[in-house]
Amino acid sequence: MCGIVGYIGKQNAVPILIEGLKRLEYRGYDSAGIAVITENKAIIEKKKGKVSVLEKFVKGSGIEANIGIAHTRWATHGEPNEINAHPHFNADKSIMLIHNGIIENYAPLRKKLISEGYKFLSETDTEVLVHLIDKFYTKKKNLFEAVRNALLLINGTYGIAVISIYEPDKIIVARKGSPLVIGVGREENYIASDVNALITHTSSIVYLEDGEMAIVTKDNFEAKTLEDDKVEKEVVEIDIEVDEITKSGYPHFMLKEIMEQPESIRNSMRGRILMDEGVSKLGGLNGFEERIVDSERILIVACGTSWHAGLVGEYMLEQFTGIPVEVDYGSEFRYRNPIITPDDTTIFISQSGETADTLAALREAKRRQALTVGICNVVGSTIARESDTGIYIHAGPEIGVASTKAFTAQLTVLALLTVLIARSKNLSCQDGQMILKELESIPYKVEKILKLNDEIEKIAEQFKDAKNFLYLGRGYNFPVALEGALKLKEISYIHAEGYPAAEMKHGPIALIDENMPTVFIAPQDSVYEKVISNIEEVKSRKGVVIAVASEKDTKIEKLVNYTIKIPDTIRMLMPILTSIPLQLLAYHIAVKKGLNVDQPRNLAKSVTVE
Ligand code: AGP
Ligand code: GLU
Repeated sequence: MCGIVGYIGKQNAVPILIEGLKRLEYRGYDSAGIAVITENKAIIEKKKGKVSVLEKFVKGSGIEANIGIAHTRWATHGEPNEINAHPHFNADKSIMLIHNGIIENYAPLRKKLISEGYKFLSETDTEVLVHLIDKFYTKKKNLFEAVRNALLLINGTYGIAVISIYEPDKIIVARKGSPLVIGVGREENYIASDVNALITHTSSIVYLEDGEMAIVTKDNFEAKTLEDDKVEKEVVEIDIEVDEITKSGYPHFMLKEIMEQPESIRNSMRGRILMDEGVSKLGGLNGFEERIVDSERILIVACGTSWHAGLVGEYMLEQFTGIPVEVDYGSEFRYRNPIITPDDTTIFISQSGETADTLAALREAKRRQALTVGICNVVGSTIARESDTGIYIHAGPEIGVASTKAFTAQLTVLALLTVLIARSKNLSCQDGQMILKELESIPYKVEKILKLNDEIEKIAEQFKDAKNFLYLGRGYNFPVALEGALKLKEISYIHAEGYPAAEMKHGPIALIDENMPTVFIAPQDSVYEKVISNIEEVKSRKGVVIAVASEKDTKIEKLVNYTIKIPDTIRMLMPILTSIPLQLLAYHIAVKKGLNVDQPRNLAKSVTVE
């Protein structure tokens, strides 16, 4: 979950590490630390809070070094404070380590190490690892071997980087369950948990796989397995523009990413529509199309916002392909005994491509011989690499913790996949063309919706002090209600629940009074009249209603307190449009509450722990 970055070369490592940490801060941000080696001495600085606190401190200190590691933490064991922050180190500060993940068997290891005389400073699970390395180093006098032997005793997940004053010409890295990449430069090399930290320096990347380690020196890197076998690694050239990870004048990444949606949706469908044949072309599925079309069942597995996209996918696929679809949470799927057969297609949706629960579910599905399809944003991410086949959503880097443009790009790709399968079943060319034409018009409609920003900001002003919110929608817009509620609670800390509108009368209606705002997603579709009845039910109990409604709807204003009018489209694509006003509403409410929308408390962008 945290960010890891390291440098070895001729330049001063300190500004490179700090800049890298800032690019990774969205991954975890409760404390940050840096360790460098200069003139055979270790310098370790750690600070609670944002990277900027650490930056201020090291900037004035004049520290210079050619090797260093740095970390931004998302605490799992021990509160976020200076002592628990990484890097952790051994008694004489000769070995320093940063870690992303969880050491599950840290308690017995800690007990044993204490009985052997090791002193622990922090409450973290991580610290056992540095003392274990110390213990093996005393015996082996070889840093790589010491790290390798220590890791053989560890259960859990890790991405680690280790440096030592005894071998100041190398960084040792290892990965199991948490991402780790090497950035290859000229007479310098980098390591990071995420390529975003490196893209201003190099585009040549080596992805470590689970169970792999590497010795990274200024001029070289050598990859090995945990069993000490050599592995040949490919250097991959990646293509990310630096300005894709800056705010480009927006006050927050989240607003920038909301506003980017016309373009990101275009990118997610670019080159994938064959209008003459009324079909889509998804190059990433190369050769697996038939197997997908013939599948007995489709299982979609994801977490959070990506899970909501999966629910919309269920509606799309069942409506047009006739294949039964089930949607599951990664965490539930992996610990059930899910029924999966080799005739099933399993789809794993993940923006980051690193979510631990989704990844574990993917591995389980593979074990049971189902076809695995990844729908990811981050190119080269673990889920993208480990699935049999896949589709990139091409939304561009998403930095705001609250997912926005990835969601609409996921829906776009799911719509393309639906057309691809349905055309091999019984969707006519004409109907295929109709859907694809509508899809092509979506970015223009999104542009129109984004022009409502000021109007939505005014509505937000009225609700910044609300304590609870209800989001209701039916059919395709039920998952949008869930997503709207998630957006609000993540960044504004207002309790919000999403429900299928008709379910309201089975419970949540008890909550309705003048203090309980309800957001209705009520476009003029086939269930419109039914949603209107639900609105009436809320109004007659003095509830305050905000409605996301069709442009041409002249009736609804009379009924509700606030209306956000948006263009229409076909039912299956409506969630792409209806989700956008809800993103803006959540954004403005959170900003008006003075909250940090890009880095909401307790959350991390990439959840690489269970
Ligand atoms: C989205 O706003 C959330 N921060 C979160 O629910 C997220 O969607 C979830 O953790 C899944 O992430 P993924 O798409 O990277 O797998
Ligand atoms: N489990 C470690 C800790 O709590 C690492 C957390 C992280 O990944 O940032 O310190």
